[in-house]
Amino acid sequence: MSAPRITGHAKLAGVIGHPVEHSLSPVLHNYWLARHGIDGAYVPLPVVPGSFTTAVRGLQASGFRGANVTIPHKEAAFALADEVETQARIAGSVNTLVFRDDGTIHGSSTDGFGYLASLEAESVSLESLSVRGPALLLGAGGAARSIATSLMEKGMSVIFANRTNERATTLANELAQTWCAHMQSPAPALSTLDWDAWESSLGSMSLLVNTTSLGMQGGPAPEWTPDLSHAAETLVVSDIVYVPRETQLLRCAAARGLKAVGGLGMLLHQARPGFQAWFGAETEVDDATVAHILAVLKNR
Ligand SMILES: NC(=O)c1ccc[n+]([C@@H]2O[C@H](COP(=O)([O-])OP(=O)(O)OC[C@H]3O[C@@H](n4cnc5c(N)ncnc54)[C@H](OP(=O)(O)O)[C@@H]3O)[C@@H](O)[C@H]2O)c1
Repeated sequence: MSAPRITGHAKLAGVIGHPVEHSLSPVLHNYWLARHGIDGAYVPLPVVPGSFTTAVRGLQASGFRGANVTIPHKEAAFALADEVETQARIAGSVNTLVFRDDGTIHGSSTDGFGYLASLEAESVSLESLSVRGPALLLGAGGAARSIATSLMEKGMSVIFANRTNERATTLANELAQTWCAHMQSPAPALSTLDWDAWESSLGSMSLLVNTTSLGMQGGPAPEWTPDLSHAAETLVVSDIVYVPRETQLLRCAAARGLKAVGGLGMLLHQARPGFQAWFGAETEVDDATVAHILAVLKNR
């Protein structure tokens, strides 16, 4: 594959964060740019807290087409965007900004899209899941918020179990309120479970999603090994942790013969809408993309 072509007309985008050096987005977008032969570049943009608005105005003035936004700027991005798509409004955070020719900024949240696309890529049908039972989300942080919103949009009931139970209750209440404020239809059922009770409740669930950092290499408990013995045979188990690619949770699921979906797909698919908006081409997450990112991860 040839190196990306960068001329004076190059289409420009980047990822704003602090820190931002760990982000895989520059590797991914520049790989896709080269594959599509697009005259463009995607760069890391380290922006300290408090300087977000100044940085975005500078990017707009410099001809950038937009940016991804990561920690700690997602709420600032939500506040700055002139127009925010419905799912991001419900989730309360924005990770993708598109700068329009008229100077306005469009904000969206693509994590939920990426999560659903990763299930679809593994032939998991949400329609059949929602008939079988609710989704159980472990965790109540930013990722849980985005994934829950996208599952709700597909009509699924969602149950949260979080180590800090009050955080789960607050999240369920907030999502119910923002749903009512932005959607015409009643919110799907949202509830919480005690952290100690989630394993024994698996028999009535159709989907289990780990959105905590448990099982992550270098995280609080890399060897975390949950008990899936109560799961129904049809339970789909997904883990959004992607380092390691096969977590202990996924191994336990496979050992029980359950469908298991890892977190790398979500990471890659969530980048597709931004790529299309900034660089004007639809891209795909194929085996070559996965192999490229895995090779980069291996050398980190
Ligand atoms: N695949 C992807 O594209 C993708 C995208 C986003 C995030 N992620 C991954 O998802 C994970 C969460 O991200 P986030 O942004 O939602 O983080 P976050 O907002 O900081 O939330 C972290 C969650 O993990 C829980 N947690 C942390 N340590 C724990 C422990 N020892 N025992 C039980 N629960 C624990 C927290 O519970 P408390 O509330 O009790 O602290 C909280 O619910 C990270 O591993 C991140 O890398 C993956």
